[in-house]
Amino acid sequence: MTFHRTTNKKMYNFSRKVNSEHSEDIKVLMQHAVGKHLISFAGGMPNNDLFPVSDIDEIYNNLSDEIKKIGFQYGPTSGYPPLVNNLRKYLKKKGLPIYQNKLLITTGSLQAISIITQELINEGDIVLAENPSFVGALSVFETYRANIIGIPIDENGIIIDELKSTIEKFSRKPKFLYITPNFHNPAGIIYSLERKRQILEVLDKTGIILLEDDAYSDLYFKEENKTLTKPIKSIEGFDVEVIYTGSFSKILGPGFRLGWMLASPKIYEKGENIKQALDACTSNFNQILANEFLAQAKLESYLLFLRTEYFDRKELLQHALEKYMPKEVTWNEPKGGFYFWLKLPKHLNSTAIFKKCIEKNVVFVTGRTFDPASKKDDNLRLSFSNMPKNEIEKGIKIIAEVIKTMM
Ligand SMILES: Cc1ncc(COP(=O)(O)O)c(C=O)c1O
Repeated sequence: MTFHRTTNKKMYNFSRKVNSEHSEDIKVLMQHAVGKHLISFAGGMPNNDLFPVSDIDEIYNNLSDEIKKIGFQYGPTSGYPPLVNNLRKYLKKKGLPIYQNKLLITTGSLQAISIITQELINEGDIVLAENPSFVGALSVFETYRANIIGIPIDENGIIIDELKSTIEKFSRKPKFLYITPNFHNPAGIIYSLERKRQILEVLDKTGIILLEDDAYSDLYFKEENKTLTKPIKSIEGFDVEVIYTGSFSKILGPGFRLGWMLASPKIYEKGENIKQALDACTSNFNQILANEFLAQAKLESYLLFLRTEYFDRKELLQHALEKYMPKEVTWNEPKGGFYFWLKLPKHLNSTAIFKKCIEKNVVFVTGRTFDPASKKDDNLRLSFSNMPKNEIEKGIKIIAEVIKTMM
């Protein structure tokens, strides 16, 4: 076999998997999320000051040496068994069918999304996703060269007629529908219970899998909204394969890199093999700490604290928006989660507003970041989770002033 030597210029023959536009967007987003001297509404992450540091100190200090040593070691690919057990109990309380399904612990729920995509998607396969969608998932689907078809949403979830007509339009069956029904990232909405059921009606017996991403359901602000967080996977009576994913990132800390997927045994088994090849197992150390956090019922009291903290931030942001935004800018007040999704008047685009705002040291995330086609740009995402409370009003005033000058 002959091949040509490259001389001074290095030629890398990259795989097609490296061409994800959304992955580039995430890099920029993360820079802005934590940029110094910036008022940042960009980061979809918890606030550092809210982490349960002393609880984790106490948990670690009380571990036996035996358990600590397990923490240093490799563990089963499926997960640290005590965590798998306790997590099953936690998911059972949400009404999830844990007996008919298997639970895989993953390195963040993004890894679960990655595993499922790797398991199901060949180049060119159709993935249906909400427009807008969580950008991390979009970058995974792009990496695996899926044909991502965005479907619009309203304040109650994905628009059912659009979902139906999209499915009918293609002669090729979509592999799965990816949605975030509870406290959507970026749209901030929660699906109505009726919309959750309607999705199952549409997918019933079609063979199209539903990928239900539930990273935020514990972060409702008011007890009366808890019933809305019912997982779609817990609704019975339909012939639909629902793969459910969740995460400790928003309810303990993203640095733990702990997520999970609950799926039927067949989906699970192939997924476990893929995970084995990816990273063998998720950090035992982190799983042990998270397990104790669950087992000692510390999660419940921590969630009570988080809900009031995020509610306070949401209130401050809502009031600032009411006070400063021109009436042409609209939004839905979130019932939980981390995000406001502002709708701009037609002739404005969020990228142009962003460029002006960053000059004034205020950042957010542009609408097009969350469009599967990276085009639609008449929205912007404001996250209140990672903000010091005293910067919210100042930041919104600046964004509103920029918008007014551009109208
Ligand atoms: C909707 C959604 N799903 C999944 C994730 C990923 O979470 P993890 O840190 O568990 O990978 C996020 C993180 O922002 C998210 O917003």
